[in-house]
Amino acid sequence: MIKTLSTYKELCSVVADIVEHTLTLPKPKLVLPTGSTPISLYKELVNRDLDWSTTTTFNLDEYVINPNHPQSYNSFMKKHLFDRVNIYPDNYHFPFRPTEAYEDKIKEIDLCILGIGTNGHIAFNEPGSTIDSRTRVVDLSEQTIRDNSRFFPTIDDVPKQAITMGLGTIMESKKIVLMANGEHKLNILNVAMNGEVTEDVPASILQNHKNVKVYYSD
Ligand code: F6R
Repeated sequence: MIKTLSTYKELCSVVADIVEHTLTLPKPKLVLPTGSTPISLYKELVNRDLDWSTTTTFNLDEYVINPNHPQSYNSFMKKHLFDRVNIYPDNYHFPFRPTEAYEDKIKEIDLCILGIGTNGHIAFNEPGSTIDSRTRVVDLSEQTIRDNSRFFPTIDDVPKQAITMGLGTIMESKKIVLMANGEHKLNILNVAMNGEVTEDVPASILQNHKNVKVYYSD
């Protein structure tokens, strides 16, 4: 189930090919991640100069934070992708509030791209999240706060809560691609993809999806 690629560059190029193909569909709908892993994917997509004018996107998650904070996922996406391609600002969406209206729009997703946390989370569905969960406010685990402290001046500055798309919502996507980069992800990736499907390892639920691809580079 896990396809290993020789370099991070190749990982991003393979996923960029999938995004490029998806953008040729009529009114494509994408779900997008933030974090370190997709940074070169977004760079590659910007370099390809694709047409995003009919595309709608939904981000997987957002901290409970001012949307204009430099470390908000809203700021991240603008910096790495949205301000650099021809997507309409009305067409990209963040879960600033877990309203039903947001949830209702996330329908008929053509492609959902995911990263994986070292504790097996996808989006901010931390261990223990239920398989039918929907967009909601969550408390971040201590491990996630530690992992994400690299983006903040001190660990105390890391938000303790986020709003995340749920596992149930993610699983309704027509196609899912999970990207993992770095040896520190290998163990959890193996547990998630080859171990038992359990809410203790949220990414393991992907084993139940009929169209999922998992790409890894070390
Ligand atoms: C972020 C997200 C998270 C990250 C995961 C891996 O939008 O959904 O699940 O994908 O924490 O983060 P990185 O890529 O920084 O290792």
